[in-house]
Amino acid sequence: MPARKKWPLFIVANRLPVVRGKGKGEGTWKRSPGGLVSALTPIVQRAGGAWAGWTGTTGPAPDPFDYDGIAHLPVPISRTQLASFYDGFCNGTIWPLYHGAIREPEYHRRWWQPYVTVNRRFAEVTAESAAQDATVWVHDYQLQLVPALLREMRPDLRIGFFLHIPFPPEELFGRLPWRRQILEGLLGADVIGFQTQGDVGNFLRVARRYADARVDGGQLQIHGHTVNVDSFPVSTDFDHYSQMASDPKVVKRAVQLHHQVGQGRKIILGVDRLDYTKGIDVRLRAFHELLSRRPEAVRECVLVQLAVPSRWRVSEYRELRSQVEELVGQINGEFSEVGLTPVQYMHRELPFNELIALYRSAEVMMVTPLADGMNLVAKEYVATRFDNSGVLILSEFAGAAEELKSALQVNPHDVDGLAETIDMALSLPEKEATRRMSRMRDVLSEHTVYDWADSFIEALDV
Ligand code: ADP
Ligand code: G6P
Repeated sequence: MPARKKWPLFIVANRLPVVRGKGKGEGTWKRSPGGLVSALTPIVQRAGGAWAGWTGTTGPAPDPFDYDGIAHLPVPISRTQLASFYDGFCNGTIWPLYHGAIREPEYHRRWWQPYVTVNRRFAEVTAESAAQDATVWVHDYQLQLVPALLREMRPDLRIGFFLHIPFPPEELFGRLPWRRQILEGLLGADVIGFQTQGDVGNFLRVARRYADARVDGGQLQIHGHTVNVDSFPVSTDFDHYSQMASDPKVVKRAVQLHHQVGQGRKIILGVDRLDYTKGIDVRLRAFHELLSRRPEAVRECVLVQLAVPSRWRVSEYRELRSQVEELVGQINGEFSEVGLTPVQYMHRELPFNELIALYRSAEVMMVTPLADGMNLVAKEYVATRFDNSGVLILSEFAGAAEELKSALQVNPHDVDGLAETIDMALSLPEKEATRRMSRMRDVLSEHTVYDWADSFIEALDV
């Protein structure tokens, strides 16, 4: 049993911030994919905190270990749980349902019990390790039962829960056969945080309807327990991104990338996990439309799409990969000119410095999810534009759209509208681009990831 130590912050999330490298990186740790890890890592490092989570490898969990200023408390997940809990209930039921059912969610009773079992295991590891009266912050859709399970095991703890993805409206959430159990799990927390006010409204409505909670403003009363519900939009380490971007080595690399990839053309960049929520396919269709209307645009711009491998055992993700790669092939086949390729596609992760250099090299950033809790890529791009250059095209359906009002906002389902917006971004007058970018930078510099975490912990500590 791990020792109970008084860490200033105790995080519980499905993934630990690091995973074991494969191939050349065998035996070393590397950063886990996704926005949750990007947001929380600097927070836990600053606090010198602990993080309970899964290593990304099945089988028995390694002993607790310290790495990069964080105490890692591994939680085991077996091979069968990987299939039923992670690929199944988390990413085959909850993920598509909460993202507006843009893929058909599957409801299987054989996936539900493993979800309960794995949530119980996370609660047990936390109950064994957290100090008396500690503050514990549970994260995301994989662990919605942990708050109530933990409260039962350790009534002395202050428990917060934050959902990084959207919370669906009543008509979708109501489809879930285990809706009452999920709500009761969440309502074990003292504070429940969402990305947007829209998510808060959705949650309050279903808590009233399916869990018989009494709602009074942003407060819920259930079985004599009070739960505070509010929105806390997640953000980035703005100064760090801004400073990294102006590092001479990164500046040099960005120029080099622009020269090699751009070949005199403007770079339009997409950076996403290869996920069907991200709208990568629609973005490619819009680019195809643009080139069909103006084939000479191949000499003006290049689309660089970076797609991070994700959840490849789930069939919808494999199908998306084929679809995206087929579209890339089709565009390049139709519109390439000798020595000039319209789409440059990479299916891999990149080291942090290289990603920043890529952000710096791009005149236009395309973030076009069909649904997204927040989207940190959009905020990271803005943070790296220290000279107020660059244009952000942003989906109305990303949580980030509530704050980044000066982006060129689009309906990502509208292929024609998106094609026109890309054209507009390419020819936006410099003065206008600077005005928009500088406004977005003002917004983000006033609400960094540290402000996000501080405001949540403050709400939890009262
Ligand atoms: P999600 O959490 O759904 O993946 P976000 O946009 O919120 O979406 O977060 C994605 C995170 O992954 C960002 O912090 C981004 O920097 C990181 N990331 C994206 N692409 C890469 C890449 N190719 N290599 C390394 N990190 C990446
Ligand atoms: C999103 C989710 C996270 C998840 C990440 C990566 O950011 O909100 O909870 O960790 O995607 O997905 P993965 O399935 O690889 O953990």
